[in-house]
Amino acid sequence: MYGTKKLTGHIHYVGVNDRTSYKFEQLWSLNHGVSYNSYLILDEKVALIDTVEIGFADVFLEKIESLLDGRSIDYLVVNHMEPDHSSSIAIIKNRYPEMKIIGNSKTISMIEGFYGITGNEIEVKEGDTLDLGYHKLSFVFAPMVHWPEVMMTYDETEHVLFSADAFGCFGTLDGGIIDEDMNCDKYWPEMYRYYAAIVGKYGSPVQKILQKLSQHEFSMICSLHGPVWKKYISEAVTIYDKLSRYDGEEGVVIAYGSMYGNTEEMAEAIAYSLVNNGIKKVIMHNMSKSDPSQVLSDVFRYKGLIIGSPTYSNELFPEVKSLIDKIQTRDLKNRIYGYFGSFTWAGAAVKHLAVVGEKLKWDIVEPSVEMKQGINEDIIAKCYELGEAMAEKLKHS
Ligand code: FEO
Repeated sequence: MYGTKKLTGHIHYVGVNDRTSYKFEQLWSLNHGVSYNSYLILDEKVALIDTVEIGFADVFLEKIESLLDGRSIDYLVVNHMEPDHSSSIAIIKNRYPEMKIIGNSKTISMIEGFYGITGNEIEVKEGDTLDLGYHKLSFVFAPMVHWPEVMMTYDETEHVLFSADAFGCFGTLDGGIIDEDMNCDKYWPEMYRYYAAIVGKYGSPVQKILQKLSQHEFSMICSLHGPVWKKYISEAVTIYDKLSRYDGEEGVVIAYGSMYGNTEEMAEAIAYSLVNNGIKKVIMHNMSKSDPSQVLSDVFRYKGLIIGSPTYSNELFPEVKSLIDKIQTRDLKNRIYGYFGSFTWAGAAVKHLAVVGEKLKWDIVEPSVEMKQGINEDIIAKCYELGEAMAEKLKHS
């Protein structure tokens, strides 16, 4: 059936595409949609690996049934309980009541908590195995990547990793399922954006699971979102490794708020200085317009960050404050940080921005620049100085 794909002799893709939701988690824009992936293993025993978002349960069931050809499902392996993957569990369970649900103790508790389902579960522990006949599955726990119950399922027979959210990205699967069958250009930026928005806080757990996985070899990585990685396994793993180490590339994000364009003039002067001092990658985000998930993505990707804000009711400009809140929630590390701000009658923005850098223990670039009302030669000179100092630190970091 279209929309399914045989990945190996017994392993089939049975996921779905969401091109209707505007936002993932009702927070993060889905300009390229998202796929909810699921996998069916038709062995002597039949195992389904995860389910899909409930709005797509009809299409999902149709795909499964077309492949089952009258057989039943013996096991549902639940690697992750976030409802974009678990909300069809009850429907599948009703259709296949004899099916055993495989999960760890946290998973089983969440299945009862979310869906009221109890009984017929098999609790697994780290390293336990499940024999399907030809395929032998083992379970690798990945707590906090990015929920506490998360585990991965490793097919020891054909070295296929079912990796839960890890190595996933936004973007629907438009006809192709496996990376080697399609042009993957659209998925790489969507992987940065997905990581920054969804996984960003959990760098240390991601590093731990990467360490665990380094003992295995992989023929394919089957994430819950985005393409099945086969040709580009190393590229996908490298991006997750780099981001979870908070290892920024050379480049600077200037994220600013500006009500009437005065603070923006400071941002323009700083950007000019950065480029004139050899920084080729400068990304400017007007926080009233830019997509917050794209800003986060860029902030995670590049090592230099300069934030600017006008003073607004003795506080930071609300959209700048919102960005800082998102960054602090993710405990972003290892950034080279500069800041600037403006005021009309009483300055507060620059003081607030100073605290941000100290709290996150970032490497702070001097000078910070504070402007009263409109720009003048003295402020422009200081903005140039800030850009030059940031460029110097970046080149020597
Ligand atoms: Fe795709 Fe954490 O859910």
